[in-house]
Amino acid sequence: MPSRRVATGAATLSVTDRGAGTPIVLLHAFPLTSRMWAPQLAELPQGWRGLAPDLRGFGASSGNAAPARHVRDHALDVLGLIDALECGPVVLVGLSMGGYVAFECWRQRSSAVRGLVLADTRADADTEEARTRRLALQQGAAAEGTGAVIDAMLPGLLGATTQAQDPHVAVQVRHVAMENETRGIIDALEALRTRPDSRPDLATITCPVLVIVGAEDTITPPAVARTMADAVPDGRYVELPAAGHLSNVEQPHAFTAALHEWLGRLS
Ligand code: MLT
Repeated sequence: MPSRRVATGAATLSVTDRGAGTPIVLLHAFPLTSRMWAPQLAELPQGWRGLAPDLRGFGASSGNAAPARHVRDHALDVLGLIDALECGPVVLVGLSMGGYVAFECWRQRSSAVRGLVLADTRADADTEEARTRRLALQQGAAAEGTGAVIDAMLPGLLGATTQAQDPHVAVQVRHVAMENETRGIIDALEALRTRPDSRPDLATITCPVLVIVGAEDTITPPAVARTMADAVPDGRYVELPAAGHLSNVEQPHAFTAALHEWLGRLS
């Protein structure tokens, strides 16, 4: 899909920009790129504009001089993108790492957000055990490159059904993730490792929230997602059967249908 480059202040991001109308900004997971949103960008509902940036250090946004080592850096880039395009307030859709960035956008400037989709993500920060795993992944990446991180993470990213029935999805995900330079992967692991606890913010999220989760997600399981949906004032919970952590990639039609149904209520 064609993309454009947008200067956001601290960075220049590569952004896929499709459709016309109320903006939906789609924030990708780690260690992927905006290309994971291709199924949703291909089926935008009438009256909505899809903007999918490669976050700083990922994909075609990897040429920036200053690294992004905190979710705040990514959130300020996203808010800078909204300002540069003069398109706020937007609906923010964040899957996993994208959700962590979306929480930070809310903390930084809630007026820029008209609705929030939290997909396969969690509000809590890393545990000490998870932080230790991130450090090991950073060391693996430094020694062996991006592929080492993808090999370690790929089995957890996809649900059991996808792994058994759609082996080409793993090939496709690997292909997208391999577009990422090792430097960006190491910086992003730092951002994941140091992200703040967003649980205290949940009660303050006054915009409508859609929580989507794959029923087979083992990284951010349904129980975690349901707790998050219950903790926000206006939360809706949707669980997608036969999907794991990358629910929008594994069950694209079901994900898109849930998104469209909720956007319809929003407008
Ligand atoms: C992601 O999908 O963005 C990552 O799995 C997030 C994480 O590892 O916390």
